[in-house]
Amino acid sequence: MDNPLIIALDFATGNDTRKFLERFGDRKLFLKVGMELFYQEGPSVIQMVKESGHNIFLDLKLHDIPNTVKSAMKNLARLECDLVNVHAAGGKEMMQAALEGLDAGTSAGRKRPDCIAVTQLTSTSETQMNNDQRIPGSLAESVFHYARLAQNAGLEGVVCSAWEAAAIRSQLGSDFYTVTPGIRMSTDNIQDQKRVATPQLAKELGVSAIVVGRSITRAEDPLKSYEHWMKIWGGKHQ
Ligand code: C5P
Repeated sequence: MDNPLIIALDFATGNDTRKFLERFGDRKLFLKVGMELFYQEGPSVIQMVKESGHNIFLDLKLHDIPNTVKSAMKNLARLECDLVNVHAAGGKEMMQAALEGLDAGTSAGRKRPDCIAVTQLTSTSETQMNNDQRIPGSLAESVFHYARLAQNAGLEGVVCSAWEAAAIRSQLGSDFYTVTPGIRMSTDNIQDQKRVATPQLAKELGVSAIVVGRSITRAEDPLKSYEHWMKIWGGKHQ
């Protein structure tokens, strides 16, 4: 993974997505397709994005019994995305089953999609984690625990906030990806996110990839905004 800036395509329809992508001409992007778009359009939206040569992170955050996750991942592997994910809270066995499913669904000679685990959502605060999930201790401890579990299960990395990325990197190695949403310029509205960081800080903390949604997708001029973000993030165009 070449330190991409991943744009979250949080749009309601394929049409809105197409209109958004038209602004970017022939630039090759790393795009995240999440639940909203995938549940509306289905696999055809992946086909549409792939036809333009973009890289895809399919962010469906699977969390179910191991057998179901394995079968679902087998089907998702056939879409030939670059990156998929699960919730680490599903446990080690579930994460291993996800990899088995991906291997089974990847055609011979092709690389299976990388798989990362969501630790604690960047919209979750420590108080919410303590009270709602009944996980005692600090948020950082929970994130490290899940990151270690994901690495033991054989996954390629985690989704976490930039704040936890440096410690994960130093403890689990720089080959283990840290993909970080909740990234905002200091002048941006943080909306529903809680553990936010600026792209400058994310870079200093050594995160592998940043995920940027509304700051680019809802900008008055998304292309201008993307170019500005890329200048600061310094990632390569895909
Ligand atoms: O608009 P914004 O930049 O907040 O978008 C962040 C994107 O990253 C959303 O698509 C959200 O679903 C996703 N995400 C997140 N926190 C996680 C995992 C994914 O915000 N832990």
